[in-house]
This record gives sequence, C-alpha cells and structure tokens, in this order.
Amino acid sequence: MFSNIRSLIFKLDPETAHNLAIKSLKFNFIPNMPDENKDDPLFKTELFGKKIENPIGMAAGFDKNAEVYNSLFKLGFGFVEVGTITPLKQYGNPKPRVFRLVEDEALINRLGFNNLGAENVINRINSNRKIGILGINIGPNKDTENRTEDYLKCLNIFYQVADYITINISSPNTENLRKFHDQKQLDDLLKNIEKEKKNLDSKIPIVVKVSPDIKNSEIDEISNVLLSNNVKGVIVSNTSDSTRESLNNIQKHQKGGLSGKPIKSKSTILINKFFKSLQGKIKIIGVGGVDSGASAYEKFLAGANYIQLYTGMVYRGPNIVSMIKKELRELLLKDDVKNFSEIIGKKTNT
Ligand SMILES: Cc1cc2nc3c(=O)[nH]c(=O)nc-3n(C[C@H](O)[C@H](O)[C@H](O)COP(=O)(O)O)c2cc1C
Repeated sequence: MFSNIRSLIFKLDPETAHNLAIKSLKFNFIPNMPDENKDDPLFKTELFGKKIENPIGMAAGFDKNAEVYNSLFKLGFGFVEVGTITPLKQYGNPKPRVFRLVEDEALINRLGFNNLGAENVINRINSNRKIGILGINIGPNKDTENRTEDYLKCLNIFYQVADYITINISSPNTENLRKFHDQKQLDDLLKNIEKEKKNLDSKIPIVVKVSPDIKNSEIDEISNVLLSNNVKGVIVSNTSDSTRESLNNIQKHQKGGLSGKPIKSKSTILINKFFKSLQGKIKIIGVGGVDSGASAYEKFLAGANYIQLYTGMVYRGPNIVSMIKKELRELLLKDDVKNFSEIIGKKTNT
C-alpha cells in the first residue's frame, strides 16, 4: 500500500512531507498495522533494565518535539528516542534544509536543531503518558555561551520522565558541536553530567551519540572516556558530513548530514570497532541505513545490542518494523537461535 502513495508523498518537499507524517500520526490517520510477529520471544530483550518487545527503535530527529511517541510505539517500535531538544526554542537553519536523494535511498538534512525548547516539550510529555520506553536526546542551543550548561539544563528538566538521556555530540549542523569528541572535552562534559546526576540523586542511564566521521585512532580514546564516566550506552552513529563520492543524486553536495543507505556499511564497520573496543561493557545502539531484516541482522552481527532507524521509514513506510521483524525472523531461524541476542557481535570482521 505504501508503495502506491510514496510517489505522491515524494512530490512534496521533504520537510512538508515530514510535517504531514507527524500530523497523520498525531491524529491517528495511519491505521494500526497487522503484525504476525508481535510478542515473538525471538525479539524480546531489555533496555537498561526494562523489558522491551523488540530491539528496533525510532532514531532521534523524527519526533523532535515529542508529539507522536505513543503512535510510534503502536507502529511496533520497541523504543522511541525523541529530540534533539535544546533548552530554548529555536528555528534552525533557513529552508530548504532537508533533501531527498531518491536514487541513493538517502536524505541530507541541515535542520540545525529546530525544536520547541525543553519547557514546552516537558509539558507535552507530562500530559501524554508514555506507553513504552522513551529516550530523550538533548543538545545545546546554537548561540549559547556555555554548551555544557545547556546539556545540564536539559538533564534537569528531563531526568524524571526519560528512560534514558542521549547526549548528542554528533550533529554536523551545529557548528563545532563535534569538538566534544575530543577526549578531554568529552571527559569534562561527562564528568559534569555525572556530578549533576549525583546532585539530583538520579540513576538515569546516560547514552552518548557519536559521529560516523571519527578517525580510527579516536575509537579507543572515546571508549575509555565512556567507560570511566558511567555511560551506559553509545549510539553509533549520527549522520555523515562526508561519504558523498559515490552518490548519484544531483543534490549530493548539499551541506548537511547524510543518512540512509549510503552510510549503512560505514556505521556497521564503526559499530564493530566500538564492539571490540568496549568488549560488551557498554550497550551499543546501531544506527545508519537500517531498512530491512538483512541490514538489521548485519548490525547485530557487528555488535549492536539494539538498532534504530529513521531514513528507512521514509523509503519503506510506516510498516517498517513488522517488515524488518518478518525478514529478520527468517534469517534468525536459519541460524537456529532462540533469541536475536545470541548473534550479537558474532561476526568479528565487518
Ligand atoms: C531529517 C533528519 C533529522 C535528524 N535529526 C536528528 C536530531 O535532531 N538528533 C540526532 O541525534 N539525530 C538526528 N538525526 C540522525 C538520525 O537519528 C540517525 O542517527 C541518522 O539519520 C542515521 O540513521 P538512518 O540512516 O536510519 O536515518 C536526523 C536524521 C534525519 C534524516
């Protein structure tokens, strides 16, 4: 059914199409999908001590203002990450700022953390009880004087309602944000976050989202900083500001972050490197180009404990979770496993 309406949706500018998707989810215009594999023991797992029905999450950026997380749970997502949310409302970059590269099954975006601000979003979450596991992804305002303070402000606002908080240091669309990948800067930031958690007497799990464009030499350094600062998860990865050479669409040189199929193997390779470096001590959420059972399977084999997706849903439609589960089920049954977690990290060279 989605393939029929996709060509109509793709006639719209990508950001308009996205806003329409949010409205449709908000007002329940998207019918509940039949899912033969609901509650299949093959996919059951836990995320930071809480049971989830499957390890497939909605990545940050789709539901930036926490408007439709319950509708996303109803579509089958095992967990949903909302945001990135900044302390103050901000418009983001001038439009157009999202580009659809159909030939490449990719998107490029330079939204720049457009969101309604933390106070507005917390009110919304407080008045809409979540029916699943909710991650809240936080970041600094563009013009803030102190970026660390901004993360702390958001932590203060969200720690009581989130199941985990993601520290986003990897958007390519906020100038110099990626400098937080530097060992010393990351260590300082995470120490401040730990300290604030102690002040708040909070045990909220902290997750860090990294860029796919980091150098090999940075992986062990970043892993060590995560391990020494009580970080519970790492999301590998955000969008890429390189990886443009082999693209076909004429918009390939638009400034922004590339997502979807062209970053699939780049992110899988990085997941495997983090898996080796972290040795199972910190959970890995694998993101980048997941759009099928096979692509999810590769991420688990490389070492992801969970996966997330965004661009895959743009190209495959709202039924994507049940499609992935159906395809993944066949692959897992061939391996004769009882639960997907048995294959995590089983391929040593991705
Ligand atoms: C339009 C768009 C907006 C995004 N906004 C955010 C964001 O606000 N915060 C964030 O951490 N990641 C954001 N992302 C990155 C996704 O969460 C994800 O890491 C990336 O797109 C790779 O996954 P995918 O190939 O499944 O889309 C965004 C991605 C897209 C396509």
